[in-house]
Amino acid sequence: MKVIRVNNQIEGGKTAFALLKGALENGAKTLGLATGSTPLSFYKEIANSNLDFSEMTSINLDEYVGLAADNDQSYHHFMQENLFQYKPFKESYLPNGLAEDLQVEAKHYDQIIEEHPIDFQILGIGRNGHIGFNEPGTSFDMTTHIVDLTADTIKANSRFFSSMDEVPKQAISMGIKSICSAKMVVLMAYGKDKADAINQMLNGPVSEELPASVLQHHPNLVVIVDEAAASELNQ
Ligand code: GLP
Repeated sequence: MKVIRVNNQIEGGKTAFALLKGALENGAKTLGLATGSTPLSFYKEIANSNLDFSEMTSINLDEYVGLAADNDQSYHHFMQENLFQYKPFKESYLPNGLAEDLQVEAKHYDQIIEEHPIDFQILGIGRNGHIGFNEPGTSFDMTTHIVDLTADTIKANSRFFSSMDEVPKQAISMGIKSICSAKMVVLMAYGKDKADAINQMLNGPVSEELPASVLQHHPNLVVIVDEAAASELNQ
């Protein structure tokens, strides 16, 4: 595991971008992508680069249940706005949050992941240590599944919605098992809100109560943190 401290999110995006370039030079073909404010500076770097993804595949971590792809709060829309409109991939997958049978959709998504092993997985982290939408208590053996979001996550995500009532209460998320099977994982965290989760993730016990702690076992993990997110780590 490697922890890289950066001055701010812009520098963090550049650092993650340099790691991505290295992975592409080593033949990476499938990227695992995340939403949220954390990866935005990374996506800007990509958008402004001359990298070409037209022969590559992307697989996103998660999507809200009940939001159509063209709903401007959906993760489909987020990815289109922040990355895909600038850098189209050969194929881009996100779970379908409107699927009639969500269990079937979850199985289908697992199949997609199996057919496209993830070479380079980008992650943010929730304040309670969730990754994707794998909330505390989720089994490390889970593959894609339907999640009841915790009150803390609903509250944190409400900043993107005009009222708390509009925030979806469920999501469909890639499981921890699938996330861990990515060849390389780059987790970014910025801001004081993430300091406790980062400290527990890196220094606490590996426990399903802090989903990101599972990454302590990952053979190729890089954690990029700014000073605020690193503020509870020992110097
Ligand atoms: C959501 C997403 C996660 C993301 C987290 C943190 O729960 N499902 O993938 O890591 O939010 O978001 P932010 O980066 O905006 O802090």
